[in-house]
Amino acid sequence: MEYTVMMPAAGSGQRMGAGYNKLFLELDDKPILIHTLDVFEKDPACVGMILAVKPAERERIQSMLTQFSITKVKALVAGGSERQQSVAACIRAHGEGGIVLVHDAARPFISQSVIYELVQVAKEHGAAIAGVQAKDTMKFAPVGIVEETVDRSKLWIIQTPQAFQYTVLQKAAEKAEAEAFLGTDESMLVERLGHPVRIVESTYDNVKMTTQEDLVFGEILLRRRQGNKDDSSRTRF
Ligand code: C5P
Repeated sequence: MEYTVMMPAAGSGQRMGAGYNKLFLELDDKPILIHTLDVFEKDPACVGMILAVKPAERERIQSMLTQFSITKVKALVAGGSERQQSVAACIRAHGEGGIVLVHDAARPFISQSVIYELVQVAKEHGAAIAGVQAKDTMKFAPVGIVEETVDRSKLWIIQTPQAFQYTVLQKAAEKAEAEAFLGTDESMLVERLGHPVRIVESTYDNVKMTTQEDLVFGEILLRRRQGNKDDSSRTRF
């Protein structure tokens, strides 16, 4: 089943503290952005990519795409000051229908099998998002004093990709814009339509490269995956 991936890549990465877009930081001599794009470049079901970038970084990203032979990017659109606005620019640029995936450029470790399942579920039901079950004990404490211990078996930590029938996502984005609603993911916008959103179980290694510690984890994951290519008997994260 074919899909197009929309990738917000226009953040400033302040929490990484690099002083520039964290997606340019390298893991194993390759920028994080390219690691993420490579996953989709290699997936035959991915028929196109739309990237939201900062206008000032457009040229640098364009030459990185050439250098690393990323061929499926059909548009580089101008990102906004919020992630949701960057995704909205991708949605406007697509305008074609079919299945679309929204995926953070800062999550290079997404697995192919999760992508496949997300696309299947979105095709059938309209909306599917990647998530993992909460591992820690969860407390509700709006002002720092515990009001309730929440049943963690019912809680999911949500990641990207988030997959949608394009018409569902477009309608959700239009409603959010008309009502000046700002969410933290695309699913929130679709939930506001009253459309059910299904969760596809993902893996704990699909981390968003956010702080310096994530880079250390990322290096370990990469090394482990490279090792796994030579030794398929090793445990995978
Ligand atoms: O900052 P954070 O890691 O949560 O951002 C998630 C993704 O959204 C990143 O890939 C980042 O580049 C992108 N983003 C964006 N436009 C913004 C803010 C973030 O495209 N205004």
